[in-house]
Amino acid sequence: MKPVILDVDTGLDDACALLLAARHPDLDLKAVTCVGGNVGIDDVVRNTLTVLDAAGRPDVPVARGAAVPLIQPVTSARHVHGEDGLGDLDWPRSTRSTDPRHAVELLRDVLRDAAATGERITLIPLAPLTNIALLLRTYPDVAAGLQEIVFMGGSAGIGNATASAEFNVWTDPEAAAIVLAAANDLGIAATMYGLDVFYDVVVTLEQARGLTGSPSAELARKLIEKRSERYQSDGGSIGDGGAVCAVIDPSGLTTQPHPVRIELSGGWSRGRTIVDTRDALDVASDPQGPAPVVQVATAVDGKRYAELWLATVS
Ligand code: BDR
Ligand code: CA
Repeated sequence: MKPVILDVDTGLDDACALLLAARHPDLDLKAVTCVGGNVGIDDVVRNTLTVLDAAGRPDVPVARGAAVPLIQPVTSARHVHGEDGLGDLDWPRSTRSTDPRHAVELLRDVLRDAAATGERITLIPLAPLTNIALLLRTYPDVAAGLQEIVFMGGSAGIGNATASAEFNVWTDPEAAAIVLAAANDLGIAATMYGLDVFYDVVVTLEQARGLTGSPSAELARKLIEKRSERYQSDGGSIGDGGAVCAVIDPSGLTTQPHPVRIELSGGWSRGRTIVDTRDALDVASDPQGPAPVVQVATAVDGKRYAELWLATVS
């Protein structure tokens, strides 16, 4: 089994990712950490516990993390995920409590334990990178417990929060810049599962209709229905769930190594991920110096990943 940790701002599509990670037999879900993003941290925590309950995994430790971005004011995506972040569904909400540790402390402890036993954990951030930036700045030794970071964020093309920027990076650009730089300095491999593939793993409403018979399947169907409503189509993308598929089945994802910079200045391009696709000579002679190299996802086998998701959550 592959040990993984998810960092989430649950979120309809984070919920798709959680159901998959909690139920797939090849993954060992060690912990889930929460960060403010799609909605405020209280709703994120409650949604996360609710989804893990539906998945039949109340054993997974969940910790509350950063409520606000490092520098800029908090934002939200309620127009995408509903007022409560989980589509305002008629669904019983969890009343369980979280792990007493802050998300950064839980991440530190789980990764240090892994390092001590020779285990290597794949970290899957699906949200603004605030918790992960704080972690890598405060406890860089946790790199020894990390296999790689596969994060949902960024775009080589257009954005969604703004014309330039993808929501997770837009929400906390400084955190994204810190994480890419730290991963580069600490020798942690990073994969950017960005908007270039994010919308391409679609479950049709017809497929979703077959999801019945267990709390996980029922919730999964409702999530797809909500996603399809939001995008006014006859199917819903599992969004963040695709990044978890990529960890389970990396051969369904095409990536290319590219230097990536985060635009931190103000103006219309703040939060943009500048993916450098120039030839090696131009990159090497860039007067700004080298940028962190990231595996950038450029294509995904959407049909295969949708089937993987369906088979696991049902
Ligand atoms: C990202 O933003 C959030 O709304 C989604 O959960 C996803 O992580 C897509 O830009
Ligand atoms: Ca998310």
